[in-house]
Amino acid sequence: MSSSVCQQPASPHSAPGPETAPPQRAISFPVYRRLARFARDPLTEFETIGGQANGAVVRLNLGLFRPYLVTHPDDVQHVLSDDAGRYMREGMLWKPVHRLTGNGISGDGPPWKASREVLRPVFAARHVAALTDLLATTVNEAVDGLDDHATTGKPFDVADEMTRIADLVLGRAFFGGGISAADGGRLGRAVAVAFTSLTARMLLPFAPSWMPLPGDSAFRRAVRTVDEVIDPLVTQRRHQPDAGDVVALLCQVRNEAGQPLSDRRIRDDVVAMYVAGTETTAMALTWLWVALEANPAVAAKLRAEVEQVVGDARPSAAHLPQLRYTRMVIQEVLRLYPSAWFIPRTMLGSDVVGGVRLPAGSTVMVSPYLTHRLPSVWGEDSHTFDPERFAPERAKPHRFAYLPFAGGPHQCLGSQLFMIEAQLVVAAMLSRYRPRLRDDGPVRPQLAVTLRPDRQLAMTIARENQ
Ligand code: HEM
Repeated sequence: MSSSVCQQPASPHSAPGPETAPPQRAISFPVYRRLARFARDPLTEFETIGGQANGAVVRLNLGLFRPYLVTHPDDVQHVLSDDAGRYMREGMLWKPVHRLTGNGISGDGPPWKASREVLRPVFAARHVAALTDLLATTVNEAVDGLDDHATTGKPFDVADEMTRIADLVLGRAFFGGGISAADGGRLGRAVAVAFTSLTARMLLPFAPSWMPLPGDSAFRRAVRTVDEVIDPLVTQRRHQPDAGDVVALLCQVRNEAGQPLSDRRIRDDVVAMYVAGTETTAMALTWLWVALEANPAVAAKLRAEVEQVVGDARPSAAHLPQLRYTRMVIQEVLRLYPSAWFIPRTMLGSDVVGGVRLPAGSTVMVSPYLTHRLPSVWGEDSHTFDPERFAPERAKPHRFAYLPFAGGPHQCLGSQLFMIEAQLVVAAMLSRYRPRLRDDGPVRPQLAVTLRPDRQLAMTIARENQ
């Protein structure tokens, strides 16, 4: 934003005033005046706003749509946790997403709470740990799928392959052997299409649902495909209580009234979790290789750890506790490249956040991407990739300074599953291959529903002993 419209806002966090200081109006950034530039390079504009706001609450004036941007960890904590009951998942991204995922775990209020209570034990540490052997077998099998590329030297698209791996792993955990490989592929593609076709509705959240927008019919087709794959599986698992996958487990669960969950509710929550878990995981794994290519010293240290811990074995549950640096690298990837780069909420009542009065009905955008890069929180080198930030002996930052998995009542249910999967993927790839990105120049994030690289990236792999 031009400096004429924005003086550096005074942050109530850096200079706390008296408790009774009257709330101020948020500084407004007239984005609508720079729409052409925003459309051309939204990330740079977004980073500029974040940098100038420097943790203060600001209002993005997009004309008809004027969301508030909240980035300071204290304010993020207020919105996502302390006062979460006032900040709902409605409007903006959520309205179109709910057409795919229903209104259970991806929604809010009593239906969300009921789903959360049922699903939390399924993703509790103990249960996820029990899944680790299945995850390891599946990751190893998925990485085997790259072997031809090691033989031929033929490059592949890294995001496509990380998506294939993420789809396979989550698909196995959720559906066991219940859907064919072909249906697994259809499901993965349909979810990807549903996501990309939502972009217009996300950017025009005030457009009524009866108004046709680009992507609408692709979205409807994708939802039909998802139903064609998942609905028969739910019916089938009702009669196979011992199948051992998440769908079978949900068929056994009783609701608040002691009744079995309806087919619709199981379908909605399974789809919601699959959607929440696949694209986010695939993009995080894609950024990992971008970060390693740009930081050879980190890549060398990571490789040394994998060599020492895994050697030429196939990575398994037993290796995970020793893959400490691997874990730190993954945490740092999620700091600089959080797949969920923004978390939108709609305010039920009015509130004061960071000293600024926000009226009822406002849209509030929390942005892990901007919070994770605040120099006032992460230091002047906040843009530098440095896994040592997560060394166990280092002081922990503010709980809400690092929120790739959000926090508060809606905190991600799949964070442990993701961590295990990501450690296994890194270990499987580096113990077998020397992956290299065949791409010059810095890779910039693209602000889509998740944070994606701004272009396709080719990777080659050579065998370790070649
Ligand atoms: C890198 C990987 C992942 C990232 C960055 C991520 C991020 C997030 C974030 C930011 C939220 C909070 C959204 C909000 O507050 O509105 C969330 C919620 C959720 N995530 Fe994840 N997630 C990841 C992987 C997964 C996986 C693998 C699963 C599936 C097992 C999963 C399941 C969920 C569910 C069910 C919720 C909704 C929780 C609720 O509202 O109660 N996520 N995730």
